[in-house]
Amino acid sequence: MAAASKEILRFPENFLWGTATSPTQVEGHIENEWTAFTAQDGGHCHVACDHYHRYPEDVEWMTKLGTNAYRFGIEWSRLQSAPFEPLNQTELARYADLLDRLIAEGITPMVVLHHFSNPPWINAAGGWTNAATIPAFVDFVQQLVAALKDKVYLWNTFNEPDTYACVAYLLGGFPPQQKWKLGQFRKVISHMASAHVQASRIIRRDGVAGGRIPEVGIAKNWTFFHAYKQFSPWDRTTAFACHYTFNKFVLDAFLGGGRRKASTFIGLNYYGRVRFHHFQAMIPASGAPVKTLKDFGFVCDDMVERYPEGLEKILPYLHRKFHLPIYITEHGSASADEDFRARDLRQNLAALHRSMQSGVDVRGFFYWSLLDNFEWQFGYTKKFGLLAVDFEDQNLPRSMKPLAEVYAKICRENGVAG
Ligand code: FCB
Repeated sequence: MAAASKEILRFPENFLWGTATSPTQVEGHIENEWTAFTAQDGGHCHVACDHYHRYPEDVEWMTKLGTNAYRFGIEWSRLQSAPFEPLNQTELARYADLLDRLIAEGITPMVVLHHFSNPPWINAAGGWTNAATIPAFVDFVQQLVAALKDKVYLWNTFNEPDTYACVAYLLGGFPPQQKWKLGQFRKVISHMASAHVQASRIIRRDGVAGGRIPEVGIAKNWTFFHAYKQFSPWDRTTAFACHYTFNKFVLDAFLGGGRRKASTFIGLNYYGRVRFHHFQAMIPASGAPVKTLKDFGFVCDDMVERYPEGLEKILPYLHRKFHLPIYITEHGSASADEDFRARDLRQNLAALHRSMQSGVDVRGFFYWSLLDNFEWQFGYTKKFGLLAVDFEDQNLPRSMKPLAEVYAKICRENGVAG
């Protein structure tokens, strides 16, 4: 008997199917706090994928994939070497050229203004723990919006402020590698939240061009934190403390009360969940042994536990709470097992589709990532790319992985087999 052909779960017309990257992870030739940073595998970001020079080729790859959107960052440290300076015109022209090439290919850009990195002069003055960073950032945004408003209408102010403040000031994984500085964590979040509100006002006021109303929002990482054993008070407390600090506190800081009005959308970065057992985060990214995770019955990529059904919890929750359209600004997996990645993507997209059927307004999905790249403290060992990059070859050739074909089909059909 022939296998019944699977129903295609279709997405709305004009749905954005994109890929995502960030400057430090792909561009290379960058001067920020990551320049002097050596990752766990000995890797650094000095050349990364050389997207800085190879972006024309990368745009061609995006068209081969059939994507109609690209989320990427504009690196503040390239554009200003002191506060309130005029923007560097050469660097600005390079980003403008990237934008023109995207637009010419029918690829809608979403620009990220802060993705885990700052100019050296900001870091020297204490980074986001210093309130003086707020007006400096707002000035950068104001100048950038004036320069690029004809080319960009989707603006993403901060990428995962929760991850940035947590890994830099609590876990010591990102520069400035501080540990358990809860006061600094809270300061960073609250300064970024005010910067978001001020920058958003400017974007919405100055960013109108050619009849397009600018859209602005943050990208919030949402991780579910659960106890492995429901009856363990310790694990439940740990899970609750993480949920409270990284989800609730951060969401309230950026979108609570009157602040909600600053944003026109919510960006959601969604990967999965973390379960705690005897205070330990049971995920590969925290060093939990793969065998133990298997014995526990956890399905993980090289980073976290996969939890597609979580999308059907978080999306309706955000929708009910804020009544704002949502973009999935990041989702992806890192694994050498491409079948696993394909299954995982389909399961997450099916969960996304069900959430949308139930009334959640989701406008787009950006796969993390276009390329294998510099994955922060993990270096080049975690491979999230649709395209592989041969880092041994100095020409850094790109090639499609099997998942790229799967994603190209999804983009082409504007749907996924259910
Ligand atoms: C997100 C980050 C992105 C990348 C992916 C795997 O938390 O925004 O830069 O590291 O995870």
